[in-house]
Amino acid sequence: MKTLTVLFATALLSLSVQAAPFAKGDPKTGKSLHDKTCVSCHVSMFGGDGSKMYTRTDRKVKSAQQLAARISGCNANTGAGWFPEDEAHVAAYLNQQYYKFK
Ligand code: HEC
Repeated sequence: MKTLTVLFATALLSLSVQAAPFAKGDPKTGKSLHDKTCVSCHVSMFGGDGSKMYTRTDRKVKSAQQLAARISGCNANTGAGWFPEDEAHVAAYLNQQYYKFK
């Protein structure tokens, strides 16, 4: 019975994650992490505030999963040393602001 309850709770949890990707991340925290570590490079490529990286018509990221993977990759590449929670914050921010995956 206990196992069933756990299974049921896990199923509910994954449902809610799908309903709102990165619900556990805090967009505000994500923005400050992102602005500190990630913007300069994107700005040097696109000018402005660099957000064109995320809004260009031929952008690469097409799903919440790809966004998470990309952020993980950039975290590793830049040596930002973010924890998974930090990646979730940044994902929440970028998704809320630009990607709007549901
Ligand atoms: C050293 C330069 C550099 C830094 C620093 C950098 N990026 Fe990037 N980023 C790039 C380049 C170059 C691309 C485009 C790659 C492509 O077009 O395939 C990119 C693309 C992306 C994309 C995908 C955009 C799309 O096409 O939808 C995301 C998301 C992203 N970066 C997030 C981050 C995050 C988060 C950080 C901070 C940890 C970061 N980047 C730091 C160079 C950088």
